[in-house]
Amino acid sequence: MKTVTTAIVTALCIMLAGGCLYAGAPAGDRTTNRDALVKRGEFLVSFGGCHDCHSPKVMTPRGPELDPARVLSGHPAAATVPAFDKQIVADGKLVLFTGDLTACAGPWGMTYAANLTPDDQTGIGLWTEDVFIQAMRTGKHMGAGRPILPPMPWQNLNTLPDDDLKAIFAYLKSLPPVKNPVPAPSSFEVGGSR
Ligand code: HEC
Repeated sequence: MKTVTTAIVTALCIMLAGGCLYAGAPAGDRTTNRDALVKRGEFLVSFGGCHDCHSPKVMTPRGPELDPARVLSGHPAAATVPAFDKQIVADGKLVLFTGDLTACAGPWGMTYAANLTPDDQTGIGLWTEDVFIQAMRTGKHMGAGRPILPPMPWQNLNTLPDDDLKAIFAYLKSLPPVKNPVPAPSSFEVGGSR
């Protein structure tokens, strides 16, 4: 009996010590893990083409390039979309993009790429990781609201495992916040002939 008790006590000590060791992982390791997650997110965002629609561009002699000061801050609020005949897109045979690809018109109406920087009021500053994952899994705004409209390819992001979505979110949260209130989508019926 004594041997059994000793064995149990020994096992408990080992488990506790193991737990303490885990909880006490050096801060350096945790930073490294965080850095690795953010790096993976940066890679996925770049490979996933998020900049195409979500980053404002500047015209250079080499063609359009990302504006480093506004990376992933969405359709610039100050930009004007020229008037056009909505019949061009109404039947779904053509869609139109602005030159920087941050706004798009199709039979669903006019949509503007969201601000993905961590600004509290105009970006994803107040989003939790769970809100982001739910939005990409359900195709609903913030995981619970209106449908997320084209051309946002949330269906593609839905094929990623949680770990990759977490990495993308960690990278987005690591960006400098940019204040840029992106317009809400407008349907042509309600919003007129914009
Ligand atoms: C082809 C253009 C396009 C690409 C590529 C794109 N997006 Fe979007 N995204 C949009 C548009 C447009 C919206 C706004 C849709 C709306 O208002 O319903 C949007 C909205 C979002 C939202 C807000 C969702 C919500 O809950 O309202 C998130 C988050 C997002 N995109 C992340 C990403 C990420 C991450 C990538 C890259 C993997 C990406 N997007 C690639 C066009 C795009």
